[in-house]
Amino acid sequence: MTQDEAKRLAGEAALRELPSEGVIGLGTGSTTKFFIEALGGAVKAGAKYIGVPTSESSRALASSLGIPLLGDEGPWNIAVTVDGADEVDDALELIKGGGGAQTREKIINFASRRNVIIVDESKLSSRLGERWAVPIEVLHFAHAQTAKQLAAFGTVSTRMRDGAPRLTDSGNFIYDVATGPIASPRTLDAALRNVPGVVETGLFCGRANVVLVAGVSGVRRLVPKA
Ligand code: 5RP
Repeated sequence: MTQDEAKRLAGEAALRELPSEGVIGLGTGSTTKFFIEALGGAVKAGAKYIGVPTSESSRALASSLGIPLLGDEGPWNIAVTVDGADEVDDALELIKGGGGAQTREKIINFASRRNVIIVDESKLSSRLGERWAVPIEVLHFAHAQTAKQLAAFGTVSTRMRDGAPRLTDSGNFIYDVATGPIASPRTLDAALRNVPGVVETGLFCGRANVVLVAGVSGVRRLVPKA
């Protein structure tokens, strides 16, 4: 099975986690793309879903598939959000933001009654930070000063695209902080958010109700340990 096939499997499995109708948060990334396509198929077949997109790319995809969308201003009554992740640890804590959308993703995650995360097996690790840096959205103003302070937490690099800093949908910078294995994601998240200029981090602690992991043997459904 290719990685894309696994991502598709996870995306399609997420459809079974939805109520029969309602408002659905639409995550961002290549795995979520398969979910949005599956949701578009359901809407085409008559299902009454309305989406709240976490990025302009997800908005464009959902619109092209005819999924009705709510505006950005909120508040929303979101039943379930389906989103991807870059790293998932044994406690189902997450690093997100590989697509630079972690701030909108976190707002919509917190606005949702349930959050379903879809990944392939390559995203699993015993400790967050082993395989992925923590993406930080940093306010445009004084971003280099904020980045200097982030260096206390690890090796900082500016997210680039086509030779220029990649800006978020809100016009901010993304700095990736390579911390190495993280002893306490919650403590690190709080410390990072305490730095003036940090808009949001890619650490999602206690925010996954279900993680669907696709691999050669199918889709495993993980839930947080009680
Ligand atoms: C975007 C995200 C994505 O969900 C995460 O990067 C996973 O993406 P993909 O499914 O393409 O691996 O957090 O900000």
